[in-house]
Amino acid sequence: MKELIQQAMKARLKSYAPYSGYFVGAALLCRDGTVYTGCNIENAAYSPTNCAERTAIFKAVSEGKRDFVRIALVGGRSDTEKAPSPCGVCRQVMAEFCDPDEFEVVMAKSETDYQVFKLAELLPHAFSF
Ligand code: THU
Repeated sequence: MKELIQQAMKARLKSYAPYSGYFVGAALLCRDGTVYTGCNIENAAYSPTNCAERTAIFKAVSEGKRDFVRIALVGGRSDTEKAPSPCGVCRQVMAEFCDPDEFEVVMAKSETDYQVFKLAELLPHAFSF
């Protein structure tokens, strides 16, 4: 867990967030052991902004990965670390690829201070058809 959180912290350094000043990093662990990282990428038009979670998931899926174990998140403004809770859009994207009773979301303040949730806890009754 510590290593995955460290990778999220490293990814956060790449965050492009000039509008919110809220910098997020994510690290996604695949079943095969590989890790894809992501950061939030903001835009002057605001709505094109991509969250760190979706950056990591889209990177992985575009490389042929779809079997995920967990994702670790860190975020905050400047030096104030917070444990980001994924937005609804990111939860729905997770639900597209992940077993809600197995996939874990790790909301981390630091390498040792974090909470782990199953996706089913964060997005009960996800939309699907
Ligand atoms: N953000 C993420 O990247 N992940 C989250 O879990 C919550 C929000 C980003 C989007 C935006 O760039 C900034 O944080 C403030 O909402």
